[in-house]
Amino acid sequence: MPKHYLMCRPDFFTVEYAINPWMDPEAGADRDVAVRQWEGLKAAYEALGHTVSLIDPIEGLPDMVFAANGALVAGGRVYGARFAFPERAAEGPAYLNWFAERGFPTHEAVHVNEGEGDFLAMDEVILAGTGFRTSREAHGEAQEFLGRPVVSLTLVDPRFYHLDTALFPLHGRNIAYYPGAFSEGSLRVLRRMFPDAVIAGADDAEVLGLNAVSDGEHIVINSEAHDLQLDLKRRGYEVIPVELSELRKAGGGPKCCTLEIRGKTDMTTSAEHIDVSERRSAHNYHPLPIVIHEAHGAWVTDVEGKRYLDFLSGYSSLNFGHGNPKILQAAHEQLDNLTLTSRAFYHDQFAAFCAGLGDLTGKDMILPMNTGAEAVETAIKVARKWGYQVKGVAPEQANIIVMEDNFHGRTTTIISFSTDPDAHDDFGPYTPGFTVVKYGSVEAIRDAIDANTVAVLLEPIQGEAGVLVPPDGYLRQVRELCTSQGILMIADEIQSGLGRTGKTFACDHEGVVPDMYILGKALGGGVVPVSAIAADEDVLGVIKPGQHGSTFGGNPLACAVGNAVIEILNTGEFQERAAQLGEVLHARLREMIGHGVVTVRGRGLWAGVDIDPSLATGREVSKALMARGVLAKDTHGSTIRLAPPIVISQEDLLWAVDQLADAIASFR
Ligand code: ARG
Repeated sequence: MPKHYLMCRPDFFTVEYAINPWMDPEAGADRDVAVRQWEGLKAAYEALGHTVSLIDPIEGLPDMVFAANGALVAGGRVYGARFAFPERAAEGPAYLNWFAERGFPTHEAVHVNEGEGDFLAMDEVILAGTGFRTSREAHGEAQEFLGRPVVSLTLVDPRFYHLDTALFPLHGRNIAYYPGAFSEGSLRVLRRMFPDAVIAGADDAEVLGLNAVSDGEHIVINSEAHDLQLDLKRRGYEVIPVELSELRKAGGGPKCCTLEIRGKTDMTTSAEHIDVSERRSAHNYHPLPIVIHEAHGAWVTDVEGKRYLDFLSGYSSLNFGHGNPKILQAAHEQLDNLTLTSRAFYHDQFAAFCAGLGDLTGKDMILPMNTGAEAVETAIKVARKWGYQVKGVAPEQANIIVMEDNFHGRTTTIISFSTDPDAHDDFGPYTPGFTVVKYGSVEAIRDAIDANTVAVLLEPIQGEAGVLVPPDGYLRQVRELCTSQGILMIADEIQSGLGRTGKTFACDHEGVVPDMYILGKALGGGVVPVSAIAADEDVLGVIKPGQHGSTFGGNPLACAVGNAVIEILNTGEFQERAAQLGEVLHARLREMIGHGVVTVRGRGLWAGVDIDPSLATGREVSKALMARGVLAKDTHGSTIRLAPPIVISQEDLLWAVDQLADAIASFR
């Protein structure tokens, strides 16, 4: 890994005071030799591909060459040095300024510390020395400013007055050290933390062999540290010996001359990711404070390695689990073959996708798009064109009946008929041509139908509204009404479809077949956005070349992933599993009614749980649930939506519901 180092040329180097046992003002030192040796060190770093920045040396500060003492830089944050001896005091502000001028967040230390001389950053912790220079209070101060755990180690031998004279990191998780420099307790800490450390002998320590710099592969080290070099080679490191004998007369070696600049891009903690995300992205979401790094099946892992059960599943996009092996394999293979052609040409994944999805829906034709909202837009356009061309509606008069509390997407046309003020307000002027009626009432639809009505657009279960299941028989009656009135029934099954409710489509629960299915989310297997509408030729046939399209719609990668999803659904396995686990889930949730839960709705592995609003808000419960290792999201104030990947085990499912019960109980 290429590193970034800060160095200071020893143009004003001398040994004229003694603040450590190596320094002898009588003997002095040769500045020209020091500069030549220092140039050799800098060249060695550059030959390894590292970047070296320089800070101007200041006359009268002979030890300023020892850049390591100037600060500690981690995650782009700079903890400044405050020197123990007045001879070096002015170096602290000089280094801190260098960083401040370059836009680094800096902290002027209250407590005495000598930067990287006594602070060595590892992957998970910072090792910190005390005993001669850096105060123990500074360890706490650094931890507070950098937000990383600091492990205090006590130095006992005055020749090894800085931690970096007796210990160096081989990489982020292991070290080399000289035991003679540490107190008994600190030694026990080191043995416990680094059972596999390289142990150096007195001979190597006495030539400052432990004042070395490793990039994880190469180790730049004083040339006289012979045994240590052999040990390191045996461990597989490439050893780069450097001659720094002149600087050793001041008690310094390669590491003392080198301050590592660990950049802002190395965002290892959730807090840092969240901080940058909040500052650099629009605030159109209000995420829970977790930063996910990887996921398999129903489990996700955050950047700190903590695991959580995913009870949101990308709003049903991850029905088949994170990293579903069948879907991933299809995607990987297709990535290597062909990813995009545009629809100007045919490609060899398209026919299978359209025929397969057509068979799954029982429809003649497919029109593929990318996102769910695009598919809804497509359905609206098709319905309108069908209205004018087939039904004979007067030009510009077509009207579509939609439902209160609907959620179909975020485009300007779709939000025009949203009844949610957040989704709707201040985005006008709005697209006309929609009539909103009460969800769950066939009468309301009947009353709204007139000669210009071309379609009824609804979600068979309203997801965003809080997993609202309409009254029994509603879908069937809507179907009959649409048929008798000669208007299209359009089912938005983006969230409810493809296995979630225990059937392929939520409409299946009432044996209803709409004129148009709108599909998305799980159709892309959690890998790529894939959406589509499915309808028979008498409807979808109204679209002619050039009248609708999408560059990425139906692309080879999307189709290959979609084909894997269709194959999975054709086995019926997931539908059955969702039905079975759904019963377990709902039985358990029903027991919670009266214990902080007001109502439970849903079907299959999908539930809306209304929390007693006098106890806590949905967000508070979501957070308490997250603290217990389960990720779910609230909607509309006091509802928690539960939708785990269908691959979840029954054991994990029940465990998660226990966590929900416990989270709710914590507010009582
Ligand atoms: N003469 C300097 C001092 O005693 C040497 C500093 C060496 N730096 C180090 N990182 N160990 O302060």
